[in-house]
Amino acid sequence: MATLKAVRGTRDLLPPETELWNRIEATARAVFARYNFGEIRTPVFEDTALFSRSVGEETDIVSKEMYTWEDRARAQSEKSQSLTLRPENTAGVVRAYIEHKLGETGQLQKLYYIGPQFRRERPQKGRYRQFWQIGAEVIGPPSSGSESPLRDAEVLEMLATLLDELGITGWTLELNSVGSSADRERYNAVLRAALVEVAPKMCVDCQRRAVTNPLRVLDCKVPEDQPIIATLPVIADSLDEDSRAHFAAVTTALNAAGVAYNLNRHLVRGLDYYTRTTFEFTHGGLGAQNALLGGGRYDGLSESIGGPKAPGIGFAMGLDRLVLTLQAQESVESSAAPEKIHAYIAPLGESLNAAALTLARELRRAGLRIDLGDGGFRLKKSLETADKMARRIVILGEDELRSGILTVKDFASGTQTKVPRAELARVLAEPSGR
Ligand code: HAM
Repeated sequence: MATLKAVRGTRDLLPPETELWNRIEATARAVFARYNFGEIRTPVFEDTALFSRSVGEETDIVSKEMYTWEDRARAQSEKSQSLTLRPENTAGVVRAYIEHKLGETGQLQKLYYIGPQFRRERPQKGRYRQFWQIGAEVIGPPSSGSESPLRDAEVLEMLATLLDELGITGWTLELNSVGSSADRERYNAVLRAALVEVAPKMCVDCQRRAVTNPLRVLDCKVPEDQPIIATLPVIADSLDEDSRAHFAAVTTALNAAGVAYNLNRHLVRGLDYYTRTTFEFTHGGLGAQNALLGGGRYDGLSESIGGPKAPGIGFAMGLDRLVLTLQAQESVESSAAPEKIHAYIAPLGESLNAAALTLARELRRAGLRIDLGDGGFRLKKSLETADKMARRIVILGEDELRSGILTVKDFASGTQTKVPRAELARVLAEPSGR
């Protein structure tokens, strides 16, 4: 029978690598807590319309990459429905914001999430079909200050702090403004006019987008189209006074906080909901998929999916890419073996297995990291196994059980000592090799 494997573009994460994943997640949670964000968990699948209305029909994500299926009704009262595995989490968060009427609190909502997302992209280094994002959204009614450029600057400053605390060095913040929805409309008209002449020389996707959603022409990856794209008008020239002032206030606050950025007038991002500030943090070590994270403002998103006016700004970091970056850095800094556990308990004979479990329970409850062998193993095998993973081995034979004095061998010093059971946890917690 053919062996079954993880599906193309998906992968298993195994220890010890998962320790790094957990460390990144823990650091992110700690930073989010300091900036007063709370966690939101939305479903992994949603109504397909949520993504087509927010991310946009003409985007690569919606037109090519979604895992969508017709979910059959199970009862007469149900209707069959088109469902999609979430390709991103902002749409789900905004849907939840509307559904739970979070705007009615009048407060700014600061929500973060950590979870898998799904896109049928061509897999390569740093690009998977199931990947993980750590993201956050700041959203609320205009009266909560959600439109203020200070929110944009605060989010960007938080990201710089988070990347620093993760120990990621050498990142670049690419920053742009794609204007308000009115600016975007104006720009789309300018772009549409410019495309009339050149679109017939472009790929079929661009020829279609030139009519339906000209902005998406700028996402085209076809090499032959790039020289044409470089000659198209840039969005910066279509921004009105308010949008320019908003963007200037963001950069002023970033300058004051000492967050370095690179103005990138070509950064439009591949999702339709963005307005005004857009950004990416890139890292040279990642290769072709160099975006560590991306985000921006989406002042009209709530209304586009039937909600109240609720401006917002957010981002999502590619957790897989953070891991790749740290692994590349750490293999230079240290390729240290995983830290050893406190002790391995070796019962001498199967009749001592139950007593060994009790001893392990005591020590684990005392906060120690303990592994438990089996009385069916020969002592030589237990010693070899223990030496690989633990600082010490605790031998539990009939004599030890009866007397309450255990035999402890310290692998670093090679010494063997007798330790009363009441003192065992304290002794095992001490550094080894003494
Ligand atoms: P995005 O740029 O599509 O934005 O994705 C954000 C990040 O997710 C990327 O910068 C990248 O690190 C990671 N990523 C995306 N696709 C893949 C993939 N196939 N494999 C591995 N990593 C990937 C969004 O998703 C927006 N929802 C961000 C946002 C939040 N905007 C406002 N709020």
